[in-house]
Amino acid sequence: MNKMDEAHLLTEGDVNFSASRKMWYSVLDKTTLDLLEEDAHYFLHQSLSTPCLDVLESCEGIYIKDVSGKSYMDFHGNNVHQVGYRNPYVIDKIKQQMDILPFSPRRYTNGIAIEFSKKLTSLFPESLNRVLFAPGGTSSVGIALKLARVITGKNKVVSLTDSFHGASLDAIAVGGEAQFKKYMGPLFPETINIPQPVQYRTDSIDPDENLYADALEEIIKKDPQIGAFIAETIRNTDVQIPSRAYWKRVREICTAYNVILILDEIPIAFGRTGKMFAFEHYDIEPDIVCLGKGLGAGIIPFAAIVTKDQYNIAAEVSLGHYTHEKSPLGCAAGLAMITYIEENDLLKKVKEDELFMRSALLRLKQQFPIIGDVRGIGLLWGIELVKDSATKEKAITEAEKIMYECLQNGLSFKVSQGNVLQLCPPLIITRAELENAVLILEKAFTSIS
Ligand SMILES: Cc1ncc(COP(=O)(O)O)c(C=O)c1O
Repeated sequence: MNKMDEAHLLTEGDVNFSASRKMWYSVLDKTTLDLLEEDAHYFLHQSLSTPCLDVLESCEGIYIKDVSGKSYMDFHGNNVHQVGYRNPYVIDKIKQQMDILPFSPRRYTNGIAIEFSKKLTSLFPESLNRVLFAPGGTSSVGIALKLARVITGKNKVVSLTDSFHGASLDAIAVGGEAQFKKYMGPLFPETINIPQPVQYRTDSIDPDENLYADALEEIIKKDPQIGAFIAETIRNTDVQIPSRAYWKRVREICTAYNVILILDEIPIAFGRTGKMFAFEHYDIEPDIVCLGKGLGAGIIPFAAIVTKDQYNIAAEVSLGHYTHEKSPLGCAAGLAMITYIEENDLLKKVKEDELFMRSALLRLKQQFPIIGDVRGIGLLWGIELVKDSATKEKAITEAEKIMYECLQNGLSFKVSQGNVLQLCPPLIITRAELENAVLILEKAFTSIS
């Protein structure tokens, strides 16, 4: 792999061929290594996921367990595990649905799909009351892009540099990440990237982040074919939390120029940020919201778009039309996941956990100069590592070392942008488990300092 490819890979995940990864394999037992080899023999190899880290056998609550019996607290979970793995309440509801109607052919609807669409839309502002389901987050992004074309008659899109909205051809066209695009051009829809609203790595003293919103307006003004702006409300991977002023301005710009505002909340909805949806922190109404991942409660692949009644104008077009569209199992999972969050007051718990995490991680920042920035909301946290707090040079090797040290001690998380430790535990995590995770992190920082 050349240096350029490796640098691109580092922006999305940990590199599978690094020295630290090779060292990691030396701690695994023979059964695991044999299974990893077999896995690599049968599956098509692709970046970021080959060869795998470990072989899993089971999962429960906040834990994933490997075939050697070792458990990891899962602070990554691909963002599907808001209510924990194998949540008994959710499993029970899915099992009940399985015994009645596990699949619904597309020309029919079903009771649980209607009940779930009613529940889901009831959580949104009144104007966002139309839903369409899909079998995965990427497909929901595709639906959103198609709908935006129907609404505006315009076909170009603006998105943020280095963003990710899924791995299909249309989603990689609007996503900015280079390693997904190699060999893939020409890509449609035509997309223009503008900078991510980042606070730590900007020289400008601009708490309202006007320069980032200005960039959007400049681009839209020049090109009448731009019909949609797509972005994560809060960026999941390296945890970028825009200001309220930013989103307010973006909303105003989109309205002024007839540009559809698509918020991708696939990884961060359903309580991750302390509210059911991240856009609720900003008092804005998006035109389309994409949901996925945790929507299926970490059991059923399931996704959705939620949009406005006024955009219910494409009856003659197939926007989704997926075989598993009104999946009774997906709907049972989604309904149970939301009910579980509500009945267990998880949003309130997440807000309390946010206070704990902020103070615990800021304490680590004071202790270890390698921590340049700590940022987060709810149970979504990023720890950015730098070699020097003045130059902010990324501490990439150190971030990897810490990740493997933590893995060895039973804490699994992902590194983003090469130097940001991203922590997103299940929302059901206990305070004692959070404290244990912080302790494991602290030990890892001590070991590399
Ligand atoms: C922000 C964002 N959008 C879209 C997707 C695609 O979702 P899926 O992999 O379920 O298709 C992802 C997946 O990681 C994501 O993080």
